[in-house]
Amino acid sequence: KRRVAILVSGGGSNMEALLASMEGDHPGEAALVLSNNPDAGGLRRAAARGVPTIAIDHRPFGKDRKAFEDVLHATLEDHRIDIVCLAGFMRVLGSSFVERWRDRMLNIHPSLLPKYTGLHTHERAIAAGDEVHGCSVHVVIPELDAGPVLGQASLSIQSTDTPDSLAARVLVLEHKLYPLVLRRFLDGKTDRVDL
Ligand code: GAR
Repeated sequence: KRRVAILVSGGGSNMEALLASMEGDHPGEAALVLSNNPDAGGLRRAAARGVPTIAIDHRPFGKDRKAFEDVLHATLEDHRIDIVCLAGFMRVLGSSFVERWRDRMLNIHPSLLPKYTGLHTHERAIAAGDEVHGCSVHVVIPELDAGPVLGQASLSIQSTDTPDSLAARVLVLEHKLYPLVLRRFLDGKTDRVDL
């Protein structure tokens, strides 16, 4: 089995969906949940499932992103991690770290990439008058939210939608899409899947 690490900053609902999907017959095993935020709810949820957790607080590193990422990398190596899944990990990762995990790191993003990289994606989709919105799982490359898309799930924006209502409905799709794409990726399937 490939050893999978999941990186979270917050509640970790995508992490939870990934962990649940890896229970039982699966090409990956949940080897580590790591957070830059010691208070992340995701750390508690992972521990409750018996998955090893580590917090590496980014704050003591200040502006020295390289030093933070060196510790991150060393920790992943220590745990013999094969694949990294970013799941609501809200630190931008530098190109040297990303290059070290080239083709071994996935991310989920709450928009139909290439639309709306970065933050406030739901608000921006509504403001643009989009009829369709959704989420994407992609391979991480140094350029933010720009790597090859492995899968997308979409929905229709309703006239009554607010950024919060849209975020909640997209999140439900994220929980279906990410486990599906991770399994396919570990099975060597790199053609894109659409839900
Ligand atoms: C998810 O919607 C994820 O797509 C988004 O943060 C949320 C995390 O929720 N990620 C990004 O915006 C990455 N820039 P979760 O902690 O419940 O999985």
